[in-house]
Amino acid sequence: MGLLMRFIVLVCLSITRMSALKFFPEKFEIGEKGTSVTLTCKTNKDSVTWKREDALGIVDIVESDYEKLSGRHLTVIDLQKDQIGNYTCWSDTGLEDYTYRLLDKSKEATGSNINCTAETFSCSERIKCTWTSDEFTAFRLRNTRDDGDWVSQSVDGVFFLPHSTNSYSEESERLLITGEAVSTCCYMKTDYSFYLRDIVKPDDPNISICTVKNKGSDKQIIEVEVMPPSSWPQPYSFFPLKHQIQYQIRHNGELKTKEWEEGSKIAVEGQISKLRVRCRDMLLLSQWSEWTTWKNVN
Ligand SMILES: *[C@@H]1O[C@H](CO)[C@@H](O)[C@H](O)[C@H]1NC(C)=O
Ligand SMILES: *[C@@H]1O[C@H](CO)[C@@H](O)[C@H](O)[C@H]1NC(C)=O
Ligand SMILES: *[C@@H]1O[C@H](CO)[C@@H](O)[C@H](O)[C@H]1NC(C)=O
Repeated sequence: MGLLMRFIVLVCLSITRMSALKFFPEKFEIGEKGTSVTLTCKTNKDSVTWKREDALGIVDIVESDYEKLSGRHLTVIDLQKDQIGNYTCWSDTGLEDYTYRLLDKSKEATGSNINCTAETFSCSERIKCTWTSDEFTAFRLRNTRDDGDWVSQSVDGVFFLPHSTNSYSEESERLLITGEAVSTCCYMKTDYSFYLRDIVKPDDPNISICTVKNKGSDKQIIEVEVMPPSSWPQPYSFFPLKHQIQYQIRHNGELKTKEWEEGSKIAVEGQISKLRVRCRDMLLLSQWSEWTTWKNVN
């Protein structure tokens, strides 16, 4: 009974261990299907033996038409899915080295569903990216343009990538984000390139109605003040925003839109029932923010 339990526990353990790669293996090597690939054991021993651990268990590797052993090297000819797994090399004194072998699927993968946004141009604000795929189980991204480190997903699935874009000058070089993904069998690498200005989308601003003059008449003037979104970098004079106001004419429901650049205040004339505002970076022409919620004019 004890023995049987131990056997069951062992089987379960080895299945869960190899069932899916939830993290990047510490060390891995990639090769495309059908190619020949050589693993080299990092050791000062002249000769080693190899084992492979995969979902089915651990096997000793013996010389065959598909697997050639030579000193510290193991060459796999015509790499296939069943040769994927964790390779360990052993000498008479024990474990010497290991590496995880993965099939490189970069060429067949339809990779670029990486999606990034940023709230500002400021480099103190990190770019937020998402990347999902049904095929892979672990992902990482890096800002290759700025020689950044690999970044893993936060618990809610978002990658926060630092960048060093100079927010005071025109952006001359595209950002290059490199992504790597792994699953138990496979590996994929993809690139995603864009200008920061194309992914900046400010938060929506705050508005308040300051004064209403000539109330009730056709010459009614409403002065609106706009506060930049709290995430927008300061000083605001260096990061000017361009605004749009949209307002509804009371007697016919017509919507009108006005755009302005200078300053945080705007005045609109006439009998108006409600209004809303949105903003974008004025110099680098980012995406528009979302509209604020409608504000009723009494
Ligand atoms: C591969 O095997 C080595 C040695 O047993 C171990 O340290 C390593 O964590 C294994 N890697 C994976 C991804 O299972
Ligand atoms: C990226 O995310 C935005 C906002 O969530 C969404 O509207 C857009 O469709 C996404 N694009 C892709 C390619 O997934
Ligand atoms: C907008 O105003 C409200 C109320 O004054 C405040 O709580 C909020 O933080 C402001 N939001 C921004 C983006 O400034």
